[in-house]
Amino acid sequence: MIKLAIIGTGNMAKQHAIEFAKIKGVSIIACCDVDATRAKAFAEAHKIPYVFTNAAKMMDELELDAVTIVTPDAAHKPVALEAAKHGLHILCEKPLAVNARDAKEMMQAARRRKLITMVNFSYRGSSALQKARELVAAGRLGAITHVEASYMQGWLHRVSDAPEIGSSTLWRLSTKMGSNGTLGDIGVHIFDFATCVAGDIASLSCSLATFPKGVHGAKYKGAVLDANDSAAAVVRFRNGGVGCIHTTRWAGGHNNSIRLRVYGDKGSLVVDLDKSWSDLDVFLRSKDAKQAAWKTIKCAPTPNIYQRFVKSIVSGKNDQPDFETGWKVQQYLDACFASARKGKAVEI
Ligand SMILES: NC(=O)c1ccc[n+]([C@@H]2O[C@H](COP(=O)([O-])OP(=O)(O)OC[C@H]3O[C@@H](n4cnc5c(N)ncnc54)[C@H](O)[C@@H]3O)[C@@H](O)[C@H]2O)c1
Repeated sequence: MIKLAIIGTGNMAKQHAIEFAKIKGVSIIACCDVDATRAKAFAEAHKIPYVFTNAAKMMDELELDAVTIVTPDAAHKPVALEAAKHGLHILCEKPLAVNARDAKEMMQAARRRKLITMVNFSYRGSSALQKARELVAAGRLGAITHVEASYMQGWLHRVSDAPEIGSSTLWRLSTKMGSNGTLGDIGVHIFDFATCVAGDIASLSCSLATFPKGVHGAKYKGAVLDANDSAAAVVRFRNGGVGCIHTTRWAGGHNNSIRLRVYGDKGSLVVDLDKSWSDLDVFLRSKDAKQAAWKTIKCAPTPNIYQRFVKSIVSGKNDQPDFETGWKVQQYLDACFASARKGKAVEI
């Protein structure tokens, strides 16, 4: 039995509790949150026996096998380093860290102890994405020429027009609270989504924008709302292809729209999660194929991240996306910030 603890018991932790509870061979024996009331309520809701407010103390006192880290981004690193010190396998929420240097330190600490690591790039649970990755890796699209990837949300607008902003939203809007804005929150997903299919990025140029929220001095409840709201990157892949990867929280009318279009010299594919997580649209060139002869492949279900994590612990073989992938994606985000600052393209 894998004895697991959930660290951070806010919004996203609920999904971790529900998904891990479904997996045979896993027992969620503890949860931890710096907010004692929240931790207690979470433990009661999910029938978790032990409750802590300090992660290090919990790791000292309990015999755990693994932890899942669901704290705000800035706390991922200290908690993960503590878990690595205790020899615990780690699933960490995205983004792995707040910069590539920290992500690398986390990766190295886990490697030294030969731990299983995974980053919750949850959209890898799409079987259409997994099939797309497989087709590109098998060369079915030929040489990759062009990629377009977008992640659009529309929940953010002026604070004065918005419903009450709670603590879970506030830290996402403020760099002082450890947020890398839209880029760090959802941009991290689309960079992983695109590169897990189309390959690594060699260089990129990025524009970032922060829009007025309609509050005096961009301040709200003591926080400065300075984190980026939109990011648009033009990228060059190591395989020679080029592409656009962009994301915003200001795309009115979109709840959570993720789309990837990959073109190669032998074919094209589209994954559109608004339409389906399991349908993959593919066009493969042939002599008699019409220009728009697209087919939809119905892809068989693939494991989600929680299942991948547990399977990796049991088999001792780290499935993707591990901390190395998290570190790689973090380098793309760092490059976006550097490029926006310098006003020119940056090598990875
Ligand atoms: N994979 C996804 O699709 C997805 C979706 C949403 C959120 N997330 C990620 O999940 C993480 C949490 O997001 P959320 O929306 O649940 O945030 P949240 O603010 O609702 O919850 C975070 C919780 O962590 C607690 N906490 C803070 N520091 C802590 C520490 N050192 N030890 C223990 N607990 C601590 C807070 O008190 C809070 O209860 C973030 O990294 C976010 O980017 C991922």
